[in-house]
Amino acid sequence: MLEVRDLRSGYGRIQILDGISLNVGAGEIVGVLGHNGMGKTTLLRTLIGEVRINSGQILLDGTDITNLSMHRRARAGIGYVPQGRDIYPQLTVLDNLKMGEIVRGGESAIDEMVSYFPVLENLLERRGGALSGGEQQILALARCLVGKPKLVLLDEPTEGIQPSIVDVIAEKLGELSKALNLTILLVEQDLNFIQELAERVLILQKGRVVAEMPPSQLDDPAIVDEYLGI
Ligand SMILES: Nc1ncnc2c1ncn2[C@@H]1O[C@H](COP(=O)(O)OP(=O)(O)O)[C@@H](O)[C@H]1O
Ligand SMILES: [Mg+2]
Repeated sequence: MLEVRDLRSGYGRIQILDGISLNVGAGEIVGVLGHNGMGKTTLLRTLIGEVRINSGQILLDGTDITNLSMHRRARAGIGYVPQGRDIYPQLTVLDNLKMGEIVRGGESAIDEMVSYFPVLENLLERRGGALSGGEQQILALARCLVGKPKLVLLDEPTEGIQPSIVDVIAEKLGELSKALNLTILLVEQDLNFIQELAERVLILQKGRVVAEMPPSQLDDPAIVDEYLGI
């Protein structure tokens, strides 16, 4: 579904991604772990077209999207839930969900998504900014899925969220990925969350993928220490 070949990108003259190659198969959930500042967010923002590519290639479902605009990549089927959620605080929950539909014509998926996330049902008329952090994260996820993406890029969905909601999000993502056959690239720092969902884990260091492993290997303190220790 997603194939990234030797991708280099960055900000101005500073290169952050230093030759990243990775694959995510259709229906697969791949986790990306790494310390702060290693380039995880830059990777996702490069994939959606927000950070300029210096070299390399991105294929989505076999089509080269490397030179497409952000808008056209979204239309091609890339959904993105940014770090910090980034919902529209002044808009109601319903209007936030409607913004998610803009990338896509056809029948509305809002009712379907609200049925997957019943917590949103009673909040539809509430302003986004008045929701709790966890509710905002669920809204951001639902807003992304309303666009019916083929590939979903998630940037630290558990950051700053209370544990009970983290469990709900993990459970829903697991259900949804099966029900909708979603392909997910999941950036996370929460090892339990990533172990619960991901089928493979990539470790990012200084803009490169330095290791790939099954999530069970994260049970090994030596591995965690080697790649993620302080
Ligand atoms: N808009 C930007 N302009 C310049 N440098 C940036 C910008 N955003 C991030 N960086 C730098 O890029 C590097 C990688 O950041 P980021 O991708 O956010 O890492 P992570 O998500 O892994 O914490 C860091 O050194 C960060 O300071
Ligand atoms: Mg980040």
